[in-house]
Amino acid sequence: MKTKKIVVFASGSGSNFKALHQAAMKKEIPARITALICDNPDAGALTYARDHDIRTEVISPRGFVDPETYKKKLDEILDEESPDLIVLAGYLKKIPDEIVERYPRKIINIHPSLLPKYGGKGWYGMRVHRAVINNREKETGCTVHYVTQDYDEGPVIARVKVPVSEKDTAETVAAKVLRQEHVLYPKVVRFLLSNT
Ligand code: GRF
Repeated sequence: MKTKKIVVFASGSGSNFKALHQAAMKKEIPARITALICDNPDAGALTYARDHDIRTEVISPRGFVDPETYKKKLDEILDEESPDLIVLAGYLKKIPDEIVERYPRKIINIHPSLLPKYGGKGWYGMRVHRAVINNREKETGCTVHYVTQDYDEGPVIARVKVPVSEKDTAETVAAKVLRQEHVLYPKVVRFLLSNT
């Protein structure tokens, strides 16, 4: 059977990217991560990818004279890689609509809340966890969903709930949710690639 290919997009520390790569190395995911696309030249994800001989591409819409050239470059990289799955792991830029259309049900994202709560433009990182604490939520969690043209609105694939206690702070909640993400994301990727 042909080994499947994954391209990951990340902007930050890349702990989900690492969890996915480690799962692939242990053959828990039937695929190889062949490339990391990153918009931030200082991202920890890049260091990890370089240390593990994964192709890296640093590309940000800001680095291009116009959006068309940026899209063309992204398209070229994806064409070269021809991924079976595109995984957004803490990627803060919007994927251009044309790319989303070209890869229907092949782009997924993980979000640190129980979507649709605390999702959409402007909801990311500690903002989400602070709002969960300020609103005295009893539970939060993480959601994996397909990427569509609207932020965090694509069909939900899986969610994991995390209880919030009175002793929790935004920081403790963030850590608990992230731990669950590292378990959930590889499971979902394995499920999707085993069923396509
Ligand atoms: C995660 O919380 C994820 O849900 C969100 O961005 C964060 C990325 O964290 N989309 P990391 O870079 O994988 O550590």
